[in-house]
Amino acid sequence: MKIYKIAVIPGDGTGPEVIREGIKVLDAAAAKHGFKLEKTFFDYGGERYLKTGKTVEDKDIADLKKYAAIFLGAIGHPDVKPGILETGVLLKLRFALDQYINLRPVKLYNEKFCPLKDKTPADIDFVVVRENSEGLYKGMGEFRDQGTPNEVATQVSYNTRRGVERCLRYAFEFTRRRNKARKLTLCGKTNVLTYAWDLWQRTFNEIAKEYPDVKTDYAHVDATTMWFVKNPEWFDVIVTDNMFGDIITDLGAMIQGGMGIAAGGNINPHGVSMFEPIGGSSPKYTGKNVINPLAAICAGGMMLENLGEPKAAKMVEEAVIGLVKTKINSLAAGQMGYFTSQVGDLVVEALT
Ligand code: IPM
Ligand code: MN
Repeated sequence: MKIYKIAVIPGDGTGPEVIREGIKVLDAAAAKHGFKLEKTFFDYGGERYLKTGKTVEDKDIADLKKYAAIFLGAIGHPDVKPGILETGVLLKLRFALDQYINLRPVKLYNEKFCPLKDKTPADIDFVVVRENSEGLYKGMGEFRDQGTPNEVATQVSYNTRRGVERCLRYAFEFTRRRNKARKLTLCGKTNVLTYAWDLWQRTFNEIAKEYPDVKTDYAHVDATTMWFVKNPEWFDVIVTDNMFGDIITDLGAMIQGGMGIAAGGNINPHGVSMFEPIGGSSPKYTGKNVINPLAAICAGGMMLENLGEPKAAKMVEEAVIGLVKTKINSLAAGQMGYFTSQVGDLVVEALT
């Protein structure tokens, strides 16, 4: 039997609760398709940081490279100063494992959960390919004259030809493989950020010539947020930089029904990828068995696809769709009509 070694990082807050349901569903789907997930748990996150002062270190990264994939719950702790865990755990993992793509599908499963008037599942089904290793997230910048009235803080958007090109190539390949509208939209800000987006646009236009079967389009990021609300049906695949991708995918999550259902994959096409629900650690709901585990379950489904088990991945997605179409009252924590663990059970029951 095929066995995949998976690193599991439940993390903080509601992370462990949603990961538990994710694993429940993944194990059940694996059993139905004749493979197994061998799981090793890692305690990276806020609790461990408070106890040991440690985030994720280089030797931890070396360890994680031995796994076929990483399944991550949530990182964030109310007692840890903002920035430490984000940089030391989440971004450290993404950067050190060179997960240069953040793949975020935006798909509405039930119009009842869409905040947009008159939009149906046929209208909201696109994928954001977010560059995940550069841009404003690079951490480049400085303070000058800190603490004085003349203080200046700069934060540099770092874009390399190589980094931009590998992201765009992934997006073109992905659009072709997805084979839906075969349309790729570059989302940027060429009218103001004239260095970074000139590089993106030039590279985009060059690569586009190699993909005559993919239609291309461009939208400024501000307009993109407008179209998400007004005409989400215009989009098939969107490619953008790290910061814009972060922002537009929160809006994307809302139009697909909220953080309870939004999943993403941090992809290194040649290395170890990491799958996570987009929502945070939700301290308010921690330990109450009320958080929605569907985002984690969907992230787990993406992981199966990435491992090379597309049939099992599809089975998980279809079970989630069935549940979201019929039984679930709401995708919001505490309002689902079921406890967290029951939602996991229902998805398992619906696996066929
Ligand atoms: C996300 C999150 C992270 C990001 C934070 C927690 C560092 O918002 O995954 O979208 O900005 O990428
Ligand atoms: Mn975000």
